[in-house]
Amino acid sequence: MRQHLRGYTSAMTAPIERKPIRKAVFPVAGLGTRFLPATKAIPKEMLPIIDRPLIQYAVDEAREAGIEQLIFVTGRGKTSIVEHFDTAYELEATMTGRGKALDVLEPTRIQPGNLVTVRQQVPLGLGHAIWCARAIVGDEPFAIFLPDELMIGAPGCMKQMVEAYNEVGGNLISVLEVPHEEVSSYGVIKPGAHVAHGLTEVLGLVEKPKLADAPSNLIISGRYILQPEVMRTLENQGKGAGGEIQLTDAMARMIGEQPFHAVTFAGRRYDCGSKLGFVEATLELALGRADMADDVRALVRRLADEIG
Ligand code: G1P
Repeated sequence: MRQHLRGYTSAMTAPIERKPIRKAVFPVAGLGTRFLPATKAIPKEMLPIIDRPLIQYAVDEAREAGIEQLIFVTGRGKTSIVEHFDTAYELEATMTGRGKALDVLEPTRIQPGNLVTVRQQVPLGLGHAIWCARAIVGDEPFAIFLPDELMIGAPGCMKQMVEAYNEVGGNLISVLEVPHEEVSSYGVIKPGAHVAHGLTEVLGLVEKPKLADAPSNLIISGRYILQPEVMRTLENQGKGAGGEIQLTDAMARMIGEQPFHAVTFAGRRYDCGSKLGFVEATLELALGRADMADDVRALVRRLADEIG
């Protein structure tokens, strides 16, 4: 990307200082009603794709991108997400006693002090959830991960975004194309100039538009790098689509004030907020795993034959 961007500055705004992205906010307070009854007593973020809960994939992606501090915006009944990233002393002692290796637990280890939780007491919307993390985010740019959106790529989605951020600074969102009839379920961008491969200026944003009002079929796919000013914008953000305080509305107000770009993720995205997306992710990831691929391929073939 670098060679395409030499000398480029956003036409819309003056460049601003590029502080490193060290913190990430994970809004995990949602009730997960689409997966009931599975999510009655466990958080939807703890539903596993094969042998890792959804939240683990998002945290792995964050770490790969150089994120140090994880900020979980949680709610009632979400304690197991935090437990997942704690040291399970009894488990480790028992496993060690039985001669079992502990490396399987490696992804769950967090540097002391690098996991912070805040509560969103009332479900007022994604914008409100992010705003709840304002004191921990402080005065630096930060990433946001919506763990429902499972992004698989090499490099991962956030790493691709951080690379773009290092070039253009400001605010970035990941986008992807969906069939036109699906746009009303998402935040949709009005794309501007194409800046480099996979990088486009954002001229406007609208949350859950009617099909006729959608400025494109490029949707926000659950990864963001935002400047801390968004917290002040959220402070006085009124209710938007669905009667909720929308992050998209606050971001829309920042366009023109600060650089705003969209990164088209080169990789695979699974909407694990939907049952079909969840099954798709499970099958595709299993087919991509060296320890399972052959057995799963045989299984899928057998099932396809039986179904006809
Ligand atoms: C949220 C965002 C939306 C984005 C979507 C991605 O919507 O508000 O802009 O496109 O996540 O999954 P939600 O799915 O919470 O309704």
